[in-house]
Parts: sequence; structure tokens; C-alpha cells
Amino acid sequence: MNRNAIISSIEQIVRQNLEDYDSGHDWWHIERVRKLALYINKREELADPFEVDITALMHDMADSKFAGINPRQGYQTIAEIIVKHGLSGIKDKVLDVIKNISFSSRNKSERPVNPLLWVVQDADRLDAIGAIGIARAFTYGGFRNNKIYDPDTIDAEALSTGNNLSGNPSTIRHFYEKLLLLKDLMNTPTARKLADKRHEFLEVFLKQFYKEWNFVF
Ligand code: ADP
Ligand code: NI
Repeated sequence: MNRNAIISSIEQIVRQNLEDYDSGHDWWHIERVRKLALYINKREELADPFEVDITALMHDMADSKFAGINPRQGYQTIAEIIVKHGLSGIKDKVLDVIKNISFSSRNKSERPVNPLLWVVQDADRLDAIGAIGIARAFTYGGFRNNKIYDPDTIDAEALSTGNNLSGNPSTIRHFYEKLLLLKDLMNTPTARKLADKRHEFLEVFLKQFYKEWNFVF
């Protein structure tokens, strides 16, 4: 199989795999992450673009939040797909990205040494902020039947520090637990620049949200 045929074949598998996910994790999320990752990689020259594309394509295939996937079973399936496409040489690298890309399971003390991860993780995180990130967060919140906002669980201190958050999750709370932190977690200067603009938009959105909530005109 040549590289184009490999990409097309893996595209088909990923499309099928994503059918049970929420619409914030649909095929278009994968397409956006691919484009962003390739853009970042072109500017930073960190990895082979083919490997970036394959990894971006597969990055959400073992997400345990969906379809009751047991991650270990997911990793095994991904490994088999990689080998079946004659890519044994990059199997460990790609799996390392899939295992470490998640925000929730990130290693806070050590920065992983895998340029492929830096690029694809930045792309995935960029898609979680800005206008698209907001749309995705509310889509996910709706999928989980979470509240839009629950003022009782967010006190003034929590709002300014991001600490002491308790109670039921709301999507606005998710901004403080994750979205507003992402800008400072970018691995590459290119992504950091893109993140600054998207971060600003999160702040504008929240400001307007509280104005409307509090009946301030
Ligand atoms: P990661 O894999 O990096 O941990 P997730 O898969 O948790 O990221 O998040 C994927 C998307 O779903 C993101 O856009 C994220 O903001 C959104 N999301 C995850 N958890 C929540 C939540 N509790 N409320 C709203 N959106 C969420
Ligand atoms: Ni993703």
C-alpha cells in the first residue's frame, strides 16, 4: 500500500469508529486536528508530515469516555490496525501519543519527549478553545445532560482562581477546569500564538455570558 492508500484506508476505519461519539468528537473534529497539526508541524519542522497525519487521524480512537471502550482493548486494536497497514515502525510512537494526549491524564511534572505528541496535542487542544471549543463544550455538556451554568457551585473566588470548584459539573465550570488553562499548556510557539486569539474569545464569551445572566445591559 502506498501512503495515500494507507491514509484512505485508515480514514475509513476512523469514520466508523467515531459513530458512537458525541458530535463535538465527530469526523470534522478529526479533520480540524489534522489540518492544525500539519500546519503547526510545517512551521515547527518537528516530525514527518505523514506520521503527523496518521497520528492526528487516530488520536481519539481509544477515548474511554465513549462507547464503553476499555482503553487497553482500544490500544490493542489500534496497534493491530497500524501493523496491518505496514506501519510497525511507527507503532510505539503513535500509541505513545494516543496514550498521553488527554488533558485529564496528562503528566503534570514531566514534558513527554515525543515531537509527534507535541504537535498533535497542540492541535487537539486548539480545537477545544475559541469559538469551536465553546461549541464543542456545550455539545458535550448537552450529550451528558449537564447544566449550562450553576451559579451555586461557582463562587467568586473560584471564578478568579479556578480553585475550590465543587458540586455538579456545569459546562461553564468546565471553562475554569480546562479550557482557560489550555493556552499555557501549548507545546509549540506556533500553537501558543493561535491559542492566544482563541483564549481571548473565551474571555469575551464569558464576560457577555455573565452580563446576560445577571441582567446587566
Ligand atoms: P481530553 O481527551 O484532552 O481529556 P476530552 O476528550 O475530555 O479531552 O474533551 C474533548 C472535548 O469535550 C473538548 O472540547 C472538551 O472541552 C469537551 N469536554 C470534555 N469534558 C467536558 C465537560 N465536562 N463539559 C463540557 N465539555 C467537555
Ligand atoms: Ni481529539
